[in-house]
Amino acid sequence: MCGIVGITANESVSSNIISALKKLEYRGYDSAGIAINTESQIHQKKVKGKLDNLILSLQKDGFDGKVGIGHTRWATHGEPSERNAHPHSSRKVSLVHNGIIENASELKSRIELKNYNFESDTDSEVITALITHYLNEGHDHMESVKQTISLLEGSYALAIIFSDLKDKIIGARNGSPLVAGTDGNSNSLGSDSIALSAIANKVCYLEDGDIVVLSRENVEIYNSSGDKANREFVDIGIMDTEVSKGSYNHFMEKEIHEHPKAVGETFRQFIDHDQGIISVDDIGLNFNDISKVHLIACGTAYYSCLVAKYYFEQYARLPVECDMASEFRYRDPVLDNKALYIFVSQSGETADTKAALDFCKDAKVRTLSIVNVMNSSIARESDYCLYTKAGAEIGVASTKAFTAQLSVLLSMALHCGTKNNNVTIEQNRQICKEIMQAPQILEKTIKRSYELKETAKAIIDSKGVMYLGRGTAFPLALEGALKFKEISYIHAEGYPAGEMKHGPLALIEKDLPVVCIVPPGPLFPKTVSNIQEVIARGGRILMITDDDSLKSSSENIWKIFRLPKTPKSIEAIVYSVPIHMLAYYTAVQLGNDVDQPRNLAKSVTVE
Ligand code: G6P
Repeated sequence: MCGIVGITANESVSSNIISALKKLEYRGYDSAGIAINTESQIHQKKVKGKLDNLILSLQKDGFDGKVGIGHTRWATHGEPSERNAHPHSSRKVSLVHNGIIENASELKSRIELKNYNFESDTDSEVITALITHYLNEGHDHMESVKQTISLLEGSYALAIIFSDLKDKIIGARNGSPLVAGTDGNSNSLGSDSIALSAIANKVCYLEDGDIVVLSRENVEIYNSSGDKANREFVDIGIMDTEVSKGSYNHFMEKEIHEHPKAVGETFRQFIDHDQGIISVDDIGLNFNDISKVHLIACGTAYYSCLVAKYYFEQYARLPVECDMASEFRYRDPVLDNKALYIFVSQSGETADTKAALDFCKDAKVRTLSIVNVMNSSIARESDYCLYTKAGAEIGVASTKAFTAQLSVLLSMALHCGTKNNNVTIEQNRQICKEIMQAPQILEKTIKRSYELKETAKAIIDSKGVMYLGRGTAFPLALEGALKFKEISYIHAEGYPAGEMKHGPLALIEKDLPVVCIVPPGPLFPKTVSNIQEVIARGGRILMITDDDSLKSSSENIWKIFRLPKTPKSIEAIVYSVPIHMLAYYTAVQLGNDVDQPRNLAKSVTVE
């Protein structure tokens, strides 16, 4: 999954292309490139590594013009290198691609391309080769693009410029996101609306099969049948422009500090102030008619689904299944007309989650998405949509989007429970009061989390870390381990505390850090027994709890991080803060690139 941009304007475009790429770097950052159509020919520059390397290189030896394209890459086919960086160009055409061409090797061996001199190991270059071939055969630009994409299998968002078209860009989309933007002075294309926020005030979310032709004056969109499509341009959202770190060192640090706001704003949509209850009424879905909930997502969003299983079972007494989208879509699952299929995604563009949604749409079962990015593909394509109000999340490791997802899922479970009479209005009212305290408790927790800096210092040399929990603390342990390994590059494993003795206990050795998430309640003494089993084998326990009666059991515990007293209903939300903070401080201590960890990207638009 890469970021692509294209701009045609009445003025020089290279600095705007670079600014747009900066906003797209979250999609990949192993190489970057730019191509500009100057008066005489297409000039391009490609570098390995982050966008800053491209900027430096352009400072030494730059070029500019009024139409151009840019790319920031997350390698799929071919190692990260200058050779494999985009744009891929011939004398006649230059293009940037996001997606995967699954039949690339088959296409490369076609007879028409036998004399084409491929310079990279990428799948994308075959698109350049084919367009060049059709241009050489005498087809016009549009026809060459059409002929080419009719041969492609897989996914693509493309921005294409031609050496003999001084102000035009042709774009095409199938399976990968592409947005067209305009502001009267320039027209643009980008992988998302955030990228276009500085150069467009209106955007149009293109659909699969669309081809778009941008000139300085016009944006013309054609649908998959080749007919002119009348697609709506909407105002660019405020969220799309809020992408600064402010006074924080990293986006992740800022975003952890935004947990209270994200959770508060998300719940606010569901608080019925007249009755003092949580209600999700006005999306037109009959919640009484749901006999089962099926939650589907990837990464951190999947862990929010695992927490939500407890919510829906406890409050709505509904059976719940959870699936990782990449498994669900290929499993030939048995679908149920009475079930509600819920897709959770921060970006709303994750390829596996979107494909799982498409699968359910084809089967005509009811679909609902919980999405952070307005108008994203998953938001638009599901039958019903509820938004998390986390604001733009830039750090690759998801934080505030996770607690916002939990907020929507908890609200939904409570609402379902109230509708199907498993939760009384009085109980709903009580939980609503607890929910309203969440931002304040989160603030206090964040203030205390600075203590974890010292803990982080003490674990940076460990060869691994275990995370344990029971109940909703088990999926939190999984989330803690994921966050920890993705930014510290130290192996971490999350496990249900009660399952340790069936295998992972063998990993415990002297001083191995074990993070135990232990909220008070009936499971507390059970987890404390598991903790003693770890201590007996030399493990160092970091206990995360808001239990304040902990005296005797604390004797051999290495460290206790104590949270402010937290109501049971919002426990998973509040306990997320220390696990995110611990990962953050550890990565900072290690000097790692916190916001852009190696090998990863935020929006995973390939399978
Ligand atoms: C990537 C990101 C994770 C995210 C996952 C799912 O792996 O690095 O932070 O949880 O994708 O993304 P989504 O946008 O669907 O929530």
